[in-house]
Amino acid sequence: MSLLVLTELSDGAEKLIRGRHATRAFRPEAVPEDTMRAVFSLAGAAPSNSNGQPWQVEVVSGAARERLAGALREAHAEKRVSVDFPYAEDMYSQVFQARRAAFGAQLYGALGIAAHDHEARAAYDAESLRFYGAPHAAFLFVTGDGGARSAADVGAYMQTLLLAMTAYGVASCPQGLLSFYADTVRDELALGGGQLLVGISFGYADEAAPVNHVTTGRASLEEVTAFHS
Ligand SMILES: Cc1cc2nc3c(=O)[nH]c(=O)nc-3n(C[C@H](O)[C@H](O)[C@H](O)COP(=O)(O)O)c2cc1C
Repeated sequence: MSLLVLTELSDGAEKLIRGRHATRAFRPEAVPEDTMRAVFSLAGAAPSNSNGQPWQVEVVSGAARERLAGALREAHAEKRVSVDFPYAEDMYSQVFQARRAAFGAQLYGALGIAAHDHEARAAYDAESLRFYGAPHAAFLFVTGDGGARSAADVGAYMQTLLLAMTAYGVASCPQGLLSFYADTVRDELALGGGQLLVGISFGYADEAAPVNHVTTGRASLEEVTAFHS
């Protein structure tokens, strides 16, 4: 590959990877079917252990999306939580807690929600089960044994999908909260199995919404990477 082509590729990769952000306010327009097919087909190029590709993807739009949003909100209101990959408050070490708190301050600050206004935060979370207004949502299931390695493969699929969406101008928000009601999703979509890792709301960003202009920082290269020689 020539130096010029490589430079173009690395510039493009910088723009693509750094240009992806979690979007939390969407316009109602649907993503055209051919774009949808191109994006999900590109996402399938993700790597996986022994090329096992242990993902199953369920995409909801239109009436199916409406029904599922309703069922999720009902499950949330009734506290019918069913999590295939459990979270625990103590799974976060101090450094993660600090990063999470910094992110929360930025997000809720952009929304005008005070730090200790737990009621407003809870209402915002409940509202997010409507996919932040996105016309589509993709649910990523881990198939097979559902163990950590398979889940990691599906994580790789997720990021490949998010980048493919970005490349096609489609905005997205991965939402762990959508996976808190795994039984509800399985029931609504009449699925036989699979473990739900994450849901991803997607569509076109509402650029006017302040929440879409939250900027998230990252740990420095030195903090998270060691080069041994
Ligand atoms: C597995 C996963 C679960 C997430 N869950 C949620 C969620 O439930 N709600 C939400 O608004 N954002 C969620 N996010 C988005 C993160 O908050 C976001 O990726 C992070 O703050 C970094 O911001 P950025 O994606 O804009 O760079 C999730 C992201 C990932 C990868």
